[in-house]
Amino acid sequence: MGTTATERSDDVRDDVAQYRGFHDEGDGGDVETRKTDYTTMVSGFYDLVTDFYERGWGKSFHFAPRFEGEPFHASIARHQHFLASRLGLRPGMRVLDVGCGVGGPMRGVARFSGAQVIGVNINAYQVSKARRYNVEAGLAEKCELIEADFMELPLEDGSIDAIYGFEATCHAPDKTALFRELERVLKPGGRFAAYEWCLTSAFDVEDVEHLRIKKGIEEGDGLPDIWTIDATRACLTDAGFTLIEDEDRASSGDATTPWFLPLTGRERSMTGLRRSPLGRRAVSALITVLEAVGKAPKGTKEVSQFLHDGADALVEGGEAGIFTPMFFFVGEKPA
Ligand SMILES: C[S@@+](CC[C@H](N)C(=O)[O-])C[C@H]1O[C@@H](n2cnc3c(N)ncnc32)[C@H](O)[C@@H]1O
Repeated sequence: MGTTATERSDDVRDDVAQYRGFHDEGDGGDVETRKTDYTTMVSGFYDLVTDFYERGWGKSFHFAPRFEGEPFHASIARHQHFLASRLGLRPGMRVLDVGCGVGGPMRGVARFSGAQVIGVNINAYQVSKARRYNVEAGLAEKCELIEADFMELPLEDGSIDAIYGFEATCHAPDKTALFRELERVLKPGGRFAAYEWCLTSAFDVEDVEHLRIKKGIEEGDGLPDIWTIDATRACLTDAGFTLIEDEDRASSGDATTPWFLPLTGRERSMTGLRRSPLGRRAVSALITVLEAVGKAPKGTKEVSQFLHDGADALVEGGEAGIFTPMFFFVGEKPA
């Protein structure tokens, strides 16, 4: 068994303060600080939130478009299979998963496609969990892990057949630099596909409400800066990729079941219940008790609170149509 956050520390208040400091514009936290010290900011964030994510969302830390009546986890699997099929993954290919979390997508993609998947992740806690889950799933041979920064991959030039990322490249301090690094390790003719967190064309940089929502998403989700769809396309081509296809998948499901529905508290599910006003009060009371009796690290309540705030900002961004967590693209390295 790997360690849990509780076993690692009985007090995370300093870690919470350090993370929040990166977003505190009145006290030295700004976009430049977050970009310069992105490794501390991002990995510190995932140390704090990984256990919450797993309890509330499962082992795949991404959203999915969904259809009326479709179970949440079926939509998550479909979203993974969509990407794997668009990328043409098949047995014998050596594929990189950038920012692989605890490996939910990696296991889904390996099973669906038969490809060999290498997950890269900067967060040691998630890497240890992903390794354990791969063994438990009987996939230790098919799925391997590298603890590394995706901005500087410990891989040879041209050594990878295909690359994908599920809602992870949004953490990069510089997207062009990241895409160049991915292009370096790809074989000529190889393809890179991702679901990217982006501001849509409806985002207005002069609108204070839009800026407030953007900031809320960045703080609630460990991001240095959210980019627009247009800027993301430009970064891909600047890095040398030929854009094969792109599409905002946010509206590809039913309008009654948007990607952010589980965060609204309006859905009849365990996540919906936890996110409802009553559920939030109950969770908060439970955490207070767990902290008091030493079963949860001190500071856990604050983590829960900033995750709730971040989730509210995601819902606002989704409802206003100014934000998408699933701008999908496939780029190709010229042969
Ligand atoms: C929202 S999670 C998504 C995880 C996974 N793709 C999934 O869908 O389950 C973002 C992931 O990116 C990883 N990450 C962020 N910045 C990274 C970096 N510079 N190098 C490697 N991994 C990074 C985080 O540690 C985290 O695992």
